[in-house]
Amino acid sequence: MMKQIRASVPAKAILFGEHFVVYGKRALATAINRRLMVVVSNRAGRGYHVKIDNIPTFGLQMVLGHEHRMAYPYKDFDNASKSIAYVRKAIEYLETEYGIGGQGVEIEISSEIPLAAGLGSSAATCVATIAALKHYFSLDSDLEGIREDAHSVEKAVQGNASPVDTAISTYGGYVQIERAKVRRLQLPELDLIIGTIGCIPLSMGINKSSEFSLKTKKIVEEVKVRKESFETVFKYIFDAADELTAHALRAMERGDFAMLGALMNINHGLLDAIGVVPRRLSELVKQSQELGALGAKVTGAGGLDNMGGVGSVLVLPGEAGDRIKVAMEVAGALVKGAKTGEAGLKIERIG
Ligand code: MEV
Repeated sequence: MMKQIRASVPAKAILFGEHFVVYGKRALATAINRRLMVVVSNRAGRGYHVKIDNIPTFGLQMVLGHEHRMAYPYKDFDNASKSIAYVRKAIEYLETEYGIGGQGVEIEISSEIPLAAGLGSSAATCVATIAALKHYFSLDSDLEGIREDAHSVEKAVQGNASPVDTAISTYGGYVQIERAKVRRLQLPELDLIIGTIGCIPLSMGINKSSEFSLKTKKIVEEVKVRKESFETVFKYIFDAADELTAHALRAMERGDFAMLGALMNINHGLLDAIGVVPRRLSELVKQSQELGALGAKVTGAGGLDNMGGVGSVLVLPGEAGDRIKVAMEVAGALVKGAKTGEAGLKIERIG
């Protein structure tokens, strides 16, 4: 008999406090209305068959075999294999912790979340895969258990990871993270613009593309090194970031969007100070501010010039949305409107 379970989860955007959250400071994150879906069904035989369709990546390069190296816009197999790493680890984890397995399983993933863009595609893959498999194997699928399992898998693959991304993919809405504790919040919906730089400039060495699967890890490590070199100064920057998140929360509760935007601009400045704002993302932010955005900032891990400046920016556009979108597109970004507070994990039996 056919058994088919579908789990879908939202992308995330960090509004305040990325990087600082890794050191226990407060961060505010939201789910946005782009989703990743995992369908698990039975198949003949034994073992797992994983299919990944339709993951939007753009302009990154792929390596074909060992001999033929070529740039191939709009497809990125390096990053597709990175998604497979999260799926493989999720399976291993569930086999070890819960003893699943012993039958043929088909896992199919499709996504509207671009990869390596700071929008939580890795965490989304972990949460949706864990949720669908737990449900399929009739294991307890309460949300907190799924979040914890997914966070363990994400950490096992990428080393240090705060609980921000897996919490958002699981619960949706808004969450505040403080000292690794997750608190869900009710806050008003925002209309944002997200601009993503996905294309590596042609001047950059093609071998760099294979490093993208470790982009967040590498940037987090660089921040650590810089923090150790400027211990006292960084203490003040990190405390300022913590205070900023508290102010932002109050501004959102009051619906004071002009204040919220101003705080985003300050957060961007602090991210620049810790070295995660490459030129190309800086230009998107400055241009948005110049065109009248209430606020603009890098979001997620940010980027590095020596990794092509790939990453995303978040804009609270106020009345200036149309001209900001056009300007970002002209600057070579993939531009999408995003609504905050999207629903979290949805699991359903579809067959
Ligand atoms: C990545 O989305 C956000 C970082 O703060 C890392 C983390 O929280 O694990 C840079």
